[in-house]
Amino acid sequence: MKTHTLLMPLDMHLHLRDAVMLENVAPLSAYSFSGALVMPNLVPPISNAAEVVAYKERVLAAVPNDNFEPYMTLFYKNYDKTFLESVADEILAIKLYPAGITTNSEGGVSSFDIDEMRPTLQVMSDLQIPLCVHGETDGFVMDREAEFMSIYELLATNFPKLKIIMEHITTKAAVDMLDKYDNLYATITVHHLLLTLDDVVGGMMQPHLFCKPIAKRPEDLDALLCVALEAHPKVMFGSDSAPHPQHAKESCGCAAGIFTAPIALQLLCEIFEQFNKLENLQDFVSDNAQRIYGICPEFKEVTLEKRPFAVPENYNGVVPMYAGETISWAIETVD
Ligand code: DOR
Ligand code: ZN
Repeated sequence: MKTHTLLMPLDMHLHLRDAVMLENVAPLSAYSFSGALVMPNLVPPISNAAEVVAYKERVLAAVPNDNFEPYMTLFYKNYDKTFLESVADEILAIKLYPAGITTNSEGGVSSFDIDEMRPTLQVMSDLQIPLCVHGETDGFVMDREAEFMSIYELLATNFPKLKIIMEHITTKAAVDMLDKYDNLYATITVHHLLLTLDDVVGGMMQPHLFCKPIAKRPEDLDALLCVALEAHPKVMFGSDSAPHPQHAKESCGCAAGIFTAPIALQLLCEIFEQFNKLENLQDFVSDNAQRIYGICPEFKEVTLEKRPFAVPENYNGVVPMYAGETISWAIETVD
């Protein structure tokens, strides 16, 4: 049997939600990942130190093993220096959502006036708090990410010492930005390494493949594969695994989000093996993130095996990507 071992896998973009959903999904990530960057888009969003600390405690309480580190984030607002200094030790990054662009982002940023944002971003730069960005405008859905590139350029040039992470990139335009500015980085999901818009709506509409940003064109997929498979030093794996109850997905008005956490490493092995690049997966799924964020995760050794794995139909009412289908890698052992 062909096997592949990953050390300290990291998921640098994860939605864990709260309460019953948190208890359902957190153990699934904690089983195979050493740590994850936990998104703050709860209702209401996580926006002060006490909320960060309490949420982290709830995450840890939902996890059965002690070798999983939830790296916490704060929901971006135009915060002042005193506030940022008081919260800096509790978080790894701050996540910026344009207002209303995706699930629970209503309180996000509605004006990208750089002078309005300058006091916050300058202090973040000084305190070395990375800025994670959901980079989409409110334009035509296929063009939203490409249209956001000018905002990334504005941010990158005005704050050259601020680490800016373009989250879940889906376009060649975003890939091309990586080499243009030293302080721009990116996360890539596993679903955006597999899907184009055709998979979502080209045949029967597939609610469990619907997410924001939506999967794009074949040339975008190729550009993403190119940087992920080479483990470009500025890209990291971030699943954007976004669980919603089955009824919220299979409904008129389908919620955006693809649930991939329990099958992410298996799918990554499948993709990297298909392109003969398994040797680069360690960098993509851990080492790049350790270096970019300056983190030393808990030890974990995950061995995957090339054998058929039937993806469960659902995980307590949450339907994963490829539910009921068979994929070609499975997790064998976790130490
Ligand atoms: O598809 C998505 N779902 N994209 C996001 O940016 C948010 C996420 C969610 O929270 O459900
Ligand atoms: Zn997300």
